[in-house]
Amino acid sequence: MEKKYVIRGKIPLKGKIEVSGAKNAALPAICATLLAPGTYKLKKVPKVRDVFNILKIMEHLGAKYKFKNDYLEINTSNVNLNSVPYELASQMRASILFLGALTGIFKEAQVPLPGGCAIGKRPVDFHIKGLSQFGAEISLEKGNIVVKTKALKGDIIVLDFPSVTATENLMMVGSLAEGETIIKNAAKEPEVVFLGEMLKKMGADIKGLGEDTIYIKGKKKLEPIEIEVIPDRIEAGTFLILAALNEENEIIIKNIKKSHLETPILKLQEIGIILEELDKDVVKVKREGELKPTKIVTAPYPGFPTDLQPIFAVLLTQANGISFITENLFENRFLYIFELNRMGAGIKVEDKTAIINGPIFLSGSPVKATDLRAGAALVLAGLIAENTTTVYNIKLIERGYENLVEKLSALGADIKVVEDES
Ligand code: EPZ
Repeated sequence: MEKKYVIRGKIPLKGKIEVSGAKNAALPAICATLLAPGTYKLKKVPKVRDVFNILKIMEHLGAKYKFKNDYLEINTSNVNLNSVPYELASQMRASILFLGALTGIFKEAQVPLPGGCAIGKRPVDFHIKGLSQFGAEISLEKGNIVVKTKALKGDIIVLDFPSVTATENLMMVGSLAEGETIIKNAAKEPEVVFLGEMLKKMGADIKGLGEDTIYIKGKKKLEPIEIEVIPDRIEAGTFLILAALNEENEIIIKNIKKSHLETPILKLQEIGIILEELDKDVVKVKREGELKPTKIVTAPYPGFPTDLQPIFAVLLTQANGISFITENLFENRFLYIFELNRMGAGIKVEDKTAIINGPIFLSGSPVKATDLRAGAALVLAGLIAENTTTVYNIKLIERGYENLVEKLSALGADIKVVEDES
């Protein structure tokens, strides 16, 4: 049965909220446990839909897992399959990460070609081109990417764009390939660096994490390890905006890595939001007077993260003046604007730029989540809108936000999960 959120707006929120482990670090980390059979302990893995989906695929491949009190234990000793079933993979694009992990350990892999999603076509040509440079034969058979090779030999791989999961896949293969793999124009996202650090802890020889070029010297085998997942910078950014949305809010955010949010925090300062550091990885958000408009242009890390643009859009509806958001990574990441406009936002979109003329009085309406981050933006909008907002398609939000209703309710929000009979 589908469920929906029913949110009553304009209630000042007060208290502490804790950021969970990063979903987009946990997903590649779980796949990387295939690279060395054995038992792993991954701490702070968020219990979100995407994680449960990827664990279902791991179980299908022969892995065993158990959530213990504060860590996820995974045993990949008996993994004996190298093909991912369509039914499980089609629910989540991140299943493309099995292409690198399974090729790395078995030199063979069969992973469904991911479909597009609401925010864009999401091609995987960089992944395929990169893998073929290791000497793998790659074919498309009945909707599956099929990889076969006798040996994996490192090469110099130039990414046309610093793709996050393509960099992650190539690092996983390079860690077990013969010779040296050089990845040029590599992604620098903290989640990519985290995977690289995990691989190094497993025994991989990797240099240049977080820089334009990553150098990997392949090893014959790697070892299982324990590691703690980094905080989710996008969830943290969501909570920063939550705190800034209502002048009467007094929210303390815990487990936030400010160094992973430099650009969004600079933007918040431009808008008139100040972070007060209370302790290591603990901040209090202060809003000083009216909110100022700004210009946001999304770019690969360390530029402004595309995942936070829908969230910032909600804050900018409350700014005094005209703001611009230009989305450069995904061709269809403004779908949430149609939903915000049902609440009275009046946002215009011209080509790749959304134009927000604030401040805008948002009124509660029935709206639907079109993707994970759009859904989060609609929840935030509902928390400041007049009357009641109903958010449909909340499964999309549960993909990436752990215990969102509990966390918001603890701050005094009036948000309920209701069966959706429609
Ligand atoms: C990762 O997706 C994240 N997902 C996304 O979060 C995030 O929005 C995105 O990076 C950008 O930061 C995970 O880490 C699981 P890309 P990814 O490859 O790796 C083009 C979420 O749900 N491209 O960096 O798929 C692509 O079309 C998601 O948490 C190709 O053209 O993103 C896009 O325009 C939303 N060919 C750009 O690169 C390829 O082979 C960036 O994509 C690969 C990508």
